[in-house]
Amino acid sequence: MHVAMIGAGYVGLVSGACFADFGHEVCCVDKDPAKIEALNRGEIPIFEPGLAELVAKNVREGRLTFTTDLSQAVRAAEAVFIAVGTPSRRGDGHADLSYVYQAARDIAAAIDGYTVVVTKSTVPVGTGDDVERIIRETRPEADFAVVSNPEFLREGAAIADFKRPDRIVIGTDDERALSVMNDIYRPLYLNQSPVLAMSRRTAELTKYAANAFLATKITFINEIADLCEHVGANVQDVARGIGLDNRIGAKFLHAGPGYGGSCFPKDTLALIKTAQDHEAPIRLVETVAAVNSQRKRAMGRKVIAACGGSVRGKTVAVLGLTFKPNTDDMRDAPSLDVITALQDAGARVKAYDPEGMQAASSMLTDVTYARDAYDCARDADALVLVTEWDMFRALDLRRLKAALASPVVVDLRNVYRPDEMRRHGFTYVSIGRP
Ligand SMILES: NC(=O)c1ccc[n+]([C@@H]2O[C@H](COP(=O)([O-])OP(=O)(O)OC[C@H]3O[C@@H](n4cnc5c(N)ncnc54)[C@H](O)[C@@H]3O)[C@@H](O)[C@H]2O)c1
Repeated sequence: MHVAMIGAGYVGLVSGACFADFGHEVCCVDKDPAKIEALNRGEIPIFEPGLAELVAKNVREGRLTFTTDLSQAVRAAEAVFIAVGTPSRRGDGHADLSYVYQAARDIAAAIDGYTVVVTKSTVPVGTGDDVERIIRETRPEADFAVVSNPEFLREGAAIADFKRPDRIVIGTDDERALSVMNDIYRPLYLNQSPVLAMSRRTAELTKYAANAFLATKITFINEIADLCEHVGANVQDVARGIGLDNRIGAKFLHAGPGYGGSCFPKDTLALIKTAQDHEAPIRLVETVAAVNSQRKRAMGRKVIAACGGSVRGKTVAVLGLTFKPNTDDMRDAPSLDVITALQDAGARVKAYDPEGMQAASSMLTDVTYARDAYDCARDADALVLVTEWDMFRALDLRRLKAALASPVVVDLRNVYRPDEMRRHGFTYVSIGRP
């Protein structure tokens, strides 16, 4: 099968490399020439565990290529995946579909023979209809079908998620297109990943419903954590106590600084907007989004309180910047809100992250970047653990305490044990634990 992947970002590059690894001939297209030049030099523009090896192997074996020439890739393809960004539209929170529409126009101009156009980007209900209309208006005679195939991979575990998905959602009423999609995903039948065929609109909504549900679960346990702090209960025990109930499930019950990243914040907002436009508002998700966005900045106040009520003139060390470990993605990372809140209150901020500092440096100002965790802690008046990279899970507590000017640790991921930290002489604050 010949596949064109439009957009070689976190989703497009991983999906393209995995499809090539299944044995398909994949051409990844991106409009960013620097990204394509880097890929053609054998460099991977993002950090995703295992991706460099997977890309190198499939390039070497001749199944994976990169280009800025969309029309050449589309002409040769039986299936064209749209995996471009759908960020929040500035000002109103609707999904910005301009990249999707541009891709649709470019694809329309190049289609040659029966082509299945697949929307992998997360797009509001009805976008498939728009893509179909755009292609039809541009090329009335073209032979094509538009399918929704939302992606559920998680950054940091993207390859495993793509190759062993919990499910594959395919939205189309077109039998011929469904059969092409089944061929593309056939290698996954061996893993018995369920393929769910449904209508295009239902598939589009399923993706938003999944992300909104997960965001709700996180926000629920975060609010329970706040209550724990007021009543002297332990949120980790509560999470385990409810998570072992199969109806609830243990995942996504880790209290923390609030969800961030390139998906949950924008996707909850986009779902809220779609629901309001259709006069079926989802008040629950509206509340989740509001609670979460306030929470991230509130974490800055938590640090200030741990420092005795003021950080003016003090230095705060921040460990972990990316929105979660094992990615370099800084989009909507809680660290941005925490750091800005601290700077607004007069703190100097030093930070260390194994992969995120380059991206962070273009999003934050006046932050000093450190070489490692201990360099970050040196002479700081408090240390905040924001992202739980493995390398921060077993820090040498003696060395850490010796490095800090004042032994205050705020652990927004509940990585350390309160009793152990106190035994080492730290003033230790975590989330929802006595
Ligand atoms: N990142 C994730 O974890 C994740 C998971 C599931 C779904 N999604 C969804 O997948 C989509 C892509 O997300 P991402 O994180 O990969 O975004 P990204 O910003 O990393 O990548 C998008 C890429 O598309 C390119 N692009 C934009 N317009 C183009 C065009 N007309 N032609 C060619 N290239 C074009 C950009 O240059 C960029 O490299 C979004 O809708 C997102 O919501 C993301």
